[in-house]
Amino acid sequence: MIDYQGKWALITGASSGIGEAFARELAKRGAHLVLVARRKDKLHKLATELMGRYQIEVDVLPIDLASIQGAYQVYIEVQKLSRSIDILINNAGFGVSGKLQETSLEKNQDLILLNVLSVSNLTQLFLPEIIKKKNGMIINVASTAAFQPTPYMSTYGASKAFVLSFTEALWAEYHQEGIHILALCPGPVDTEFFKVMGGDEALLLKRDNPQSVVKAALEGISQDKSYVIPGPKRNYWLTHLSRFVPRKMVAKISERILRPR
Ligand SMILES: NC(=O)c1ccc[n+]([C@@H]2O[C@H](COP(=O)([O-])OP(=O)(O)OC[C@H]3O[C@@H](n4cnc5c(N)ncnc54)[C@H](OP(=O)(O)O)[C@@H]3O)[C@@H](O)[C@H]2O)c1
Repeated sequence: MIDYQGKWALITGASSGIGEAFARELAKRGAHLVLVARRKDKLHKLATELMGRYQIEVDVLPIDLASIQGAYQVYIEVQKLSRSIDILINNAGFGVSGKLQETSLEKNQDLILLNVLSVSNLTQLFLPEIIKKKNGMIINVASTAAFQPTPYMSTYGASKAFVLSFTEALWAEYHQEGIHILALCPGPVDTEFFKVMGGDEALLLKRDNPQSVVKAALEGISQDKSYVIPGPKRNYWLTHLSRFVPRKMVAKISERILRPR
């Protein structure tokens, strides 16, 4: 069992959904927190609640990570606070829905800045100190969308394929140095994600709850897994089916499933 007591965890996208669930679970396990997202009020409310309930310290960094400098700002602020991070959870992310030419170029650019660049930069910036820690860990939130192309959410699926590949590569590079690195790949989860993305009601599938997704991630970490796909077994089999089918066919099947009704 990994002891989280007294460790410092930095969680991006902690103002709602899976990030908030990570904050609650790690606080319960005794970790101090640095919470990052844009909505300052939500972060402060959560910080106050968690500090009142548990014997922990919580810092709040309202920073927009959909920018080139976002990750550096977080890193500098953490240094100013003299916090030494043991656990990095790159969770902030969003999706853009629609046929590419009908979506906003600016939104797709922000998606890549947030879902790809901030994950890569925060990981590289915090890795040196995490390596020095006993049981240091990095959890990058990918998605089942990482395993095949996602027509009508093309940039989103591609961004999560980056997160999965990047994280698995780092797992292979570092897991023998005592650091835990995991790609968390949930299917649909009941969060603000779908409201933020907008788009088609067909995506209103049966959803997991964020708490069970977080528990699956921490269990995966304790088993030194490189990735986990929480939720019903069909999430696992659907993502792995694509390995046995020609890539063109996978793209066509995905298009049929994700086509707006
Ligand atoms: N829900 C699903 O079905 C599902 C499935 C698989 C993977 N995921 C992934 O899970 C992660 C968490 O999403 P969620 O489902 O919990 O959705 P969510 O409830 O919408 O949470 C997204 C979080 O990201 C933060 N965020 C968004 N833009 C940001 C920015 N520019 N800078 C800093 N923070 C930003 C949001 O906070 P602010 O708005 O306050 O900035 C919020 O805290 C994402 O990476 C998502 O792709 C979700």
